[in-house]
Amino acid sequence: MAKLSVNDINVRGKRVFLRVDYNVPLEEKDGQVVITDKTRIVETLPTLRRLIEQGGKLILAAHLGRPKGIREPALSLRPVAAQLAELLGRPVAFVDDCIGEKVEKTVGIMQPGDLLLLENLRFYKEEEANDPVFADQLARGTDIYVNDAFGAAHRAHASTEGVPRVVAKRAGLCAAGLLMERELKFLGEELEVPATPFVVILGGAKVSDKIPVIERLLEKAQTILVGGAMAYTFRLAQGYQTGKSLVEPDRIEVAKAALAKARERGVKFLFPEDDIIATPVKTDKLDKKGRSVTEYQNARVNPDMNCPEDAAGLDIGPATVKAYSEEIRRAKTILWNGPMGLFEDKRFAEGTNSIARAVAEVTQKNGATTIIGGGDSVKALNQAGLGGQVTFMSTGGGASLEFLEGKVLPGVAALTDKK
Ligand code: 3PG
Ligand code: MG
Repeated sequence: MAKLSVNDINVRGKRVFLRVDYNVPLEEKDGQVVITDKTRIVETLPTLRRLIEQGGKLILAAHLGRPKGIREPALSLRPVAAQLAELLGRPVAFVDDCIGEKVEKTVGIMQPGDLLLLENLRFYKEEEANDPVFADQLARGTDIYVNDAFGAAHRAHASTEGVPRVVAKRAGLCAAGLLMERELKFLGEELEVPATPFVVILGGAKVSDKIPVIERLLEKAQTILVGGAMAYTFRLAQGYQTGKSLVEPDRIEVAKAALAKARERGVKFLFPEDDIIATPVKTDKLDKKGRSVTEYQNARVNPDMNCPEDAAGLDIGPATVKAYSEEIRRAKTILWNGPMGLFEDKRFAEGTNSIARAVAEVTQKNGATTIIGGGDSVKALNQAGLGGQVTFMSTGGGASLEFLEGKVLPGVAALTDKK
């Protein structure tokens, strides 16, 4: 059922509780916190501008990281408030709490068009627990609820599910923001009856993450192109040697079932015919979590479907790039989720970059609808400088996958139905 949108409501003089997904990557540079990717903030600006123009009093709430109920200074949203103010070109107040007296006081003096960003919701464990008392406290004094946090809509937390429940109980309206609407349109409606050929490109590390999506898309797609480490579990299922590649042996049966279903439905299910492999060597360096860092040596093209015993597959090879690009060139609709290899390392980025170029090209030249499912694939496209050349890039990671699986997102379900 369609949900009420901010286009359908008037918030003049009203207090709006606005859930946004400002879970952005932060880095410390010379003692300063820097936001390394502002996309999630930038994408909420149209909603903010509309609500400001109407004269709403905007109380923004968000989470950052996973502090699990502990007040971690490094996960404060204060730098985000500063960034937002800069992007909007107007002041954004910040309170170092999300409930309580300080918040109520600040909200009490807000004027139409004012913005306030609350501190990280997850400094309270009640947020993730969807605690009803906490939801009541968050909703205090709120007239209208707006959710523009598509990226967090798969979570049934107090700010995504509890607060709209409280607001609805008082007969208040709960609407989708413009970003939320766009996400639902492109990942939902546009893929309902896609123009064909519909080509799905799936990558990333794990088959287990993608199996429900594959099952769903097998009903709609003409072609599925597989890359990333998940390809090796499929290769294992087909009886090939996978060497030291990342595999999930406990997923061989589901991989086989997906292959059988594809055959039955006549879906072209393609796997890499060559790859870039390298020899993993454990070093005595430790990562942030104290695990030993693996280095990859002797990166080389492997023209064989089997991987040598001492090597791991880390990217799709040139023949695969060519074959996949041809499929992409013929597509009218493309959905891409997950990189083709370990693209953070230049030696293993060419597969992902080539696919990104092919997807951008078919969008620009043939007018294909190209939808990028969020997370790493968006990062890869941006890294290749092609972010603006596709039809839509989702701001959701887990949320876009769950939505594509056909799951009902609690943050969407909680919104008011359109009459
Ligand atoms: C995300 O970054 O995927 C969303 O903000 C949700 O965050 P979470 O996975 O910690 O719930
Ligand atoms: Mg996540």
